[in-house]
Amino acid sequence: MNSGRFVVFEGPDGAGKTTAMTAVAGRLRETGREVVQTREPGGSTGAEAMRSLLMTETLQHAPVLSQLLLITAARVDHLDTTILPAIQRGAVVLCDRYVDSSYIYQCRLGGVPLDVLDQLNTLLKIRMPDLRLFFELPAAVALSRMTARAEKNRFDLHNEERWLELADAYRWRAEQAPETVRRVNAALSLEEVVTQCWEHIHESG
Ligand code: TYD
Repeated sequence: MNSGRFVVFEGPDGAGKTTAMTAVAGRLRETGREVVQTREPGGSTGAEAMRSLLMTETLQHAPVLSQLLLITAARVDHLDTTILPAIQRGAVVLCDRYVDSSYIYQCRLGGVPLDVLDQLNTLLKIRMPDLRLFFELPAAVALSRMTARAEKNRFDLHNEERWLELADAYRWRAEQAPETVRRVNAALSLEEVVTQCWEHIHESG
């Protein structure tokens, strides 16, 4: 595994993907690899500015299609200025959420036809990940982690029903586009989760 790689971490809130991603990045760096840790929406100066806009009250109420177009605009900036140059240098890019989140949040849950996003991705030549790690866990585990992180209010905002809907949408996406998906049992300890990610990264290339 010495050429550039593009690995994304996906999963519902409370799955622990950000913590696991940071630990995986540390282990990869110990082997001498250059690792670029990034996230979506965001990950570059322009894309972070678009993320701030997306998080405003006004944009939260915009049509979902407008949100998707802005997320895609941010993705183009992120790809051009952060992801693609890093892959070309031979780095491993670890990204917290990517196109699967758009298929899940804007298409499956938000009602934008899948075909719109498929076509946008094709037209804009959006680089697809080499590996997509899907974090799976029961609602009760996610809830207790979010409570421990004092994010209870945020969870309340989305509520358990919404969380279950999201987890279901992740299962749908994993079945609908399974090619580079590897499932991660995110209910286990951080160390065991990191080991699963590590094995998937090594097995996939
Ligand atoms: P963030 O606080 O980064 O979420 P998390 O910590 O759970 O990763 O917020 C990102 C939000 O953006 C999250 O609610 C999912 C949403 N999102 C989309 O709706 N579509 C997308 O394409 C992406 C990348 C994220």
